[in-house]
Parts: sequence; structure tokens; C-alpha cells
Amino acid sequence: KEAKLWGGRFEESVTEAVETFTESISFDKLLSKYDIMGSIAHAQMLAHQSLISVKEKDEIVKGLEDIERRIANGEFQWRTDREDVHMNIEAALIEMIGEPAKKLHTARSRNDQVLTDFRLWCRDAIDGIIGSMKRLQVSMVTLALKNEGLIVPGYTHLQRAQPVLLQHLLLAYVEQIDRDIGRLVDCRARMNFCPLGACALAGTGLPIDRFMTSETLGFTAPLRNSIDAVSDRDFVMEFLSANAITAVHLSRLGEEWVLWASEEFGFITPSDSVSTGSSIMPQKKNPDPMELVRGKSARVIGDLVTLLTLCKGLPHAYNRDLQEDKEPVFDSVKTILGMLEVSAEFALNITFNRDRIQKALPAGHLDATTLADYLVNKGVPFRTSHDIVGRAVALCTSKNCQLLDLSLDELRSINPVFDEHVYEYLGVENAINKFSSYGSTGSACVASQLDYWTKKLEIK
Ligand code: ARG
Repeated sequence: KEAKLWGGRFEESVTEAVETFTESISFDKLLSKYDIMGSIAHAQMLAHQSLISVKEKDEIVKGLEDIERRIANGEFQWRTDREDVHMNIEAALIEMIGEPAKKLHTARSRNDQVLTDFRLWCRDAIDGIIGSMKRLQVSMVTLALKNEGLIVPGYTHLQRAQPVLLQHLLLAYVEQIDRDIGRLVDCRARMNFCPLGACALAGTGLPIDRFMTSETLGFTAPLRNSIDAVSDRDFVMEFLSANAITAVHLSRLGEEWVLWASEEFGFITPSDSVSTGSSIMPQKKNPDPMELVRGKSARVIGDLVTLLTLCKGLPHAYNRDLQEDKEPVFDSVKTILGMLEVSAEFALNITFNRDRIQKALPAGHLDATTLADYLVNKGVPFRTSHDIVGRAVALCTSKNCQLLDLSLDELRSINPVFDEHVYEYLGVENAINKFSSYGSTGSACVASQLDYWTKKLEIK
């Protein structure tokens, strides 16, 4: 059995069970690229500070680059008995180049090393997620552009409320995703500080230059406090919180589209390419991708909860519990990327059923609030106009008709304030045309929102 890199004081080797239970190589090998990047920066700094010779640095860098190539080609042998990614790479380097490799861990601990790797990994992950978010925004705007002028029922409490332009609803999602991007941008900026050189927890008496490694690795600056540097996981919590919020947004989108694809709504038809069937019911065509977007949001929320729970009882500084921080992050990132990609694809593969939507619009008195505004324009206090329109709706209910079917006499029997201009406010098309406030569903307002997004996202 190979001696552990930390084996000096030990007389017995660890049991199989402990080795299997404590290893992290099975998942933290995902950090290898960043571990090597960090080690190269560290070696360069050590040489610059004359803690190792330039020759030793060159051999270390060459060896590490070689290991990186072997990993990329799938030729590198990951070993559970070498515990984690850091010791797998260091032990392999020692095996390859001998003595100089034994100097690499000068003024470094796995505690600052793992966090350097992890921050670098998360930084790249954030950039990837932001890319996917922009693609989803583009899909949503593209879908909006394809459906100009389409009015759909707007809901509150899932009850018919007011008419809205479909474009307006789709752009609501674009806004939400934009704030999700903003949260990741903020998180990235706060995350981008370098733990390297904090060592185990207290720093070092060796003459290292933390500013140099920080700069080489593209961080804003070294973290100011070495204890904080190896203890903190709030950058992870913040990242997972941002992902959880995004997941909730996508889950709501999923729910909406699943509902809209139902026979009962029938507002959208997903194409076959984004639907799946039933193993028993031959007629079925299900919107599974969006159901799974809704379903997978549970994992992303769970990943955040795992991190929060993991950290809540930990004293400073590093505790081995913290090794458990990686899998939730890997899972969260993989899941959110899939959710974003599938949502974008789904958006490009649905058709809005204009006839069906058109038939649905008359029900639910979507123009009632516009009618109340008509009365306000005529000087009726809003509370009174609300009451008058309420009575008109009651009359419609008893007659089983729409507001625009009521005659002027019938309206006047409720209140003499009505005149023939009332019909310019009734019906969903008229109602839509009356909206004019900033951010409203009025055609001009929506057109300017759409213009903003088409330009911002550079859609042709
Ligand atoms: N695999 C460990 C982790 O992920 C690396 C740090 C180990 N440090 C230690 N002192 N055992 O946290």
C-alpha cells in the first residue's frame, strides 16, 4: 500500500470503510483543470519569491501540463487511496518528476487550495449559465415576435382577469431571467477573491506574494482574512440561492405551459420533437420536458438547502464537513443548465392556437375593469363605478351574455351615466387598446418593450 502524503505520524493505515467513506476523488476530479491552473500559478509565485528555483518551477509546470493532457485524454488513473483531486495530482507529479514536485505544496494547504479550485470552477460555471440564460431570453423574444397582436386571457387566482397581449406575458419571463442574470453577475463579483496563501487557516511566515497568484488567476484581490478564506462558503450559498430563484422562475414557466397544453386550455401545441408518449395509452402526447423543468427545480432548491444546513453548525475554520459542498453545486449547475436549455428549445417548438384562444376570450368579462375606467373618465368615483360594473356583470350572468351584448337601455337601467361611447371600451380588442400606462399591456407599450429587448439581445 502506498504511503499517504500526510502519513508521517501514522502507524496504521486507514480501513477500507474509512477510505471509501472519506474519499472525494469520485466527484472532485471535476476540479482538476482548476487545480492545475492554481498549482501552476502557485509554483510561478514560489519561484518569483525564490522559494523554489526557476528550474524546479519549470519542471513542475511541465509535469502539471502533462498531467492535464493525460486527464483530458482519459489516460490519467484516478486513485481512491489518494483521497481527493489535490493529492491525486500532487502524488502523480511526485511520481513523474520526483524531488521538485515535493516543493509544490510549500506555503499551501488543501484548505486554501480546494477553495481556489472551487471559486475558479464556480466562476466559469456562472459564465456558462449566463450564456444559457441569454439563449432562453432570445427564444422567448423570438416566440413573442412570431405572435404579434395575439391577445390572451390574463389571470389572477387562475381566474379570468383582464386581456393581455401574449407578447407582454412572454416578456415578463425575459425580465425575470434578466434579474437572474443580475444576481449571478453580483455573485460572481463577490466570489472573485483569492483564498490561495491562506494556507490551513492562519497564513504563513514564508515570504509568499498572494497578490501575484491572485492576479495570475484573474481574481480581483486576495481575500483579506485567512480564517475567513478557508471557512467561508457564502459564495456557494449565494450562487445556489441565485440558481434556486432561477429554478423557481423556470418551474412557473413549466407549470404555465403544461397547463396551456392541456385539452382544457388548449392554448398551445408543443411540436412532437419536444413531447413524449405513454407506454400504455396510444393517444397520449405529453409535455414532459416542461414537467421535468418544474420537477427538477426541486433538486436545485434542495441543493441550496443542503449547503445552508451543511454550514449552519460549523465552527471556524475548515471542517471536513465542507467536502460535502461540492456535489450540491455540481448538481445545481448541471440541472439548471439543462432546465434553461430545454426551456429555450421548448419555446422554439410551440404553436399558439389562435382559434382556440379567440374562442376563449369572450368568457370571464375580461373587459369589466376597462368599463369601470370608462365611468371614471366620465367623472364617476372609482368605488361607485366598480359597483355599477359589478351590477352589469350580474345582469350578464343572469342573461348568460357578455358586457358588450347589453343594450344601452339595459346599461342605463343600472345607471343613467352610460352613453353610446361605452361600446368603444367593450370587447377584448377595445379593452387592450385602452391600456396606456408605462409597462402596461397596451400595444404601444408592449411594442416598446419588445423593441428594447430585440435591441438589447441583438435579435435580427
Ligand atoms: N477534499 C477536501 C475538501 O473537499 C480537501 C480539503 C481537505 N483538507 C483537509 N484538511 N482534510 O474539502
